[in-house]
Amino acid sequence: MKQLFEKTKINQIELENRFVRSATWEGLAKPDGSCNDKITDMMVELAKGQVGLIISSHAFVNQAGRAHIGQLGIYDDFLIDSYRKMVEKVHDEGSKIIMQITHAGGRAMIESKDGKALGPSDLEIKKYHCRKMTISEIKQTVIDFTNSARRAKKAGFDGVQLHGAHGFLLNQFLSPFLNKRKMIDLLFAYNSSSIWIKGVNSNCQREKVRVILF
Ligand SMILES: Cc1cc2nc3c(=O)[nH]c(=O)nc-3n(C[C@H](O)[C@H](O)[C@H](O)COP(=O)(O)O)c2cc1C
Repeated sequence: MKQLFEKTKINQIELENRFVRSATWEGLAKPDGSCNDKITDMMVELAKGQVGLIISSHAFVNQAGRAHIGQLGIYDDFLIDSYRKMVEKVHDEGSKIIMQITHAGGRAMIESKDGKALGPSDLEIKKYHCRKMTISEIKQTVIDFTNSARRAKKAGFDGVQLHGAHGFLLNQFLSPFLNKRKMIDLLFAYNSSSIWIKGVNSNCQREKVRVILF
């Protein structure tokens, strides 16, 4: 128990204690995905409660990756300023805060130009109604993750967390049930999430953004 209150480091991020608030979608963002006072108040409350590390709710990296209305977004530079006050206030209370970045893939609410969500394969099952992403769409999405991480850093976040769970895009690429891509895609090395994660991770290292995986 005592250890919970001891200082620690995660990927060079120094934490006052080992209490971590897991990413939790609150549905309070503005329609354009920007941060606001309600979310700021909630994060400051957590920081006042001495949570060592706060992870934001998942923020979409591009329009095709949006999962819900009320979700945080980090898909454009104009959003950076909306986060600055929140991050500063959290830091003032002694907590660290990282942003969780995500793409909903085949579960996205926003459709692509041709009217379908984007996923690892053509799917019409349960929550997944999507078409197979092209290689150039995959490459662009890796860039969008990287640019989002760079924006989070500019806003003052201490790092980013890549959302690889809950049936969203990275998780879809990991699943043999949802990812039915053939050998030809292997040539482009984009058949699995691990390659994605390596791509985003190495880009983020170049941008000096700290990355935590979930
Ligand atoms: C309302 C709600 C929203 C959540 N939003 C996210 C999210 O945005 N990103 C994420 O990775 N996990 C999300 N989760 C999962 C939580 O972070 C957590 O992993 C999960 O609730 C299990 O934690 P527990 O074992 O302490 O209950 C959410 C959970 C709930 C209940």
